[in-house]
Amino acid sequence: MSATTSEKLSHATGIDEGAVAHGRSIKSVYVYEAPVRIWHWINALAITVLALTGFFIGSPLPTQPGEASANFLMGYIRFAHFAAGYLLAVGLIGRIYWAIVGNHHARELFWVPLLTRAYWIEVFGMLKWYAFMSPRPGRYVGHNPLARFAMFFGYLLLTLFMICTGFALYGEGAQMGSWQERMFGWVIPLMGQSQDVHTWHHLGMWALIVFVILHVYAAIREDIMGRSSVVSTMISGHRTFKD
Ligand code: HEM
Ligand code: HEM
Repeated sequence: MSATTSEKLSHATGIDEGAVAHGRSIKSVYVYEAPVRIWHWINALAITVLALTGFFIGSPLPTQPGEASANFLMGYIRFAHFAAGYLLAVGLIGRIYWAIVGNHHARELFWVPLLTRAYWIEVFGMLKWYAFMSPRPGRYVGHNPLARFAMFFGYLLLTLFMICTGFALYGEGAQMGSWQERMFGWVIPLMGQSQDVHTWHHLGMWALIVFVILHVYAAIREDIMGRSSVVSTMISGHRTFKD
């Protein structure tokens, strides 16, 4: 059996040429700086803990057997919820700071060019791509235009809503005069009464879960079918292009 060209080459250079990519050009751009990436994963963890514990606050587990004072299960669940709630809020303040001092892509989460025609053309282009109606998506260094829309309306505004309603509820426990009550107490009469805030806060969780499902689907789908790296970009910070 005669040796293939690549096998011959490997004998000459000691390199397995067949295993080396021969793309025309593979470009890499540094997009997400370390604070954005660290924030993204801490934020994802906080929201996972908040949704799990929030679900059990809304639908508590059956009463534990034994002396009431010997059990603190719901207390631990609520403590984890509040700790993750603080992490979410402080993390977002840190993320806002980084939008001010960080690179161009660090600001993309906070505004959407809704008033430009070109933006909407790109959004519809991406919608067609996601609906399997277009053969190729656009090439974007930062978030794609549709992702920006989803991240602003589906994540940022919703998370601010969860923080306002969450701290308003927390203010009830911390009582009158606490900073939580003074800063967020106005939310309760705005929505009616305490139970309304609970209901909206609860519904907000399901809306956020819908965002996360679509977001993770889109990230993995784009990684496989799109024209650039996606999930690894939120790990290493670098966007690499396949074509
Ligand atoms: C609770 C879960 C999650 C939430 C709330 C969330 C939220 C976000 C937000 C707000 C951004 C924009 C980042 C910025 O501009 O600062 C983002 C980006 C991103 N997320 Fe997540 N994320 C979650 C989980 C995940 C998971 C599990 C993955 C991996 C499969 C992932 C992959 C990504 C990627 C790749 C980007 C960058 C997208 C791009 O390059 O355009 N996320 N995420
Ligand atoms: C992603 C963000 C969040 C999610 C998904 C979430 C989810 C939930 C859910 C589902 C409930 C139960 C509501 C009910 O049916 O009565 C709840 C309750 C509550 N959450 Fe959140 N929450 C979030 C953020 C926050 C934040 C930032 C705080 C502020 C510390 C907070 C504080 C509270 C409080 C005080 C309660 C009521 C606890 C009780 O009545 O025992 N939450 N949350």
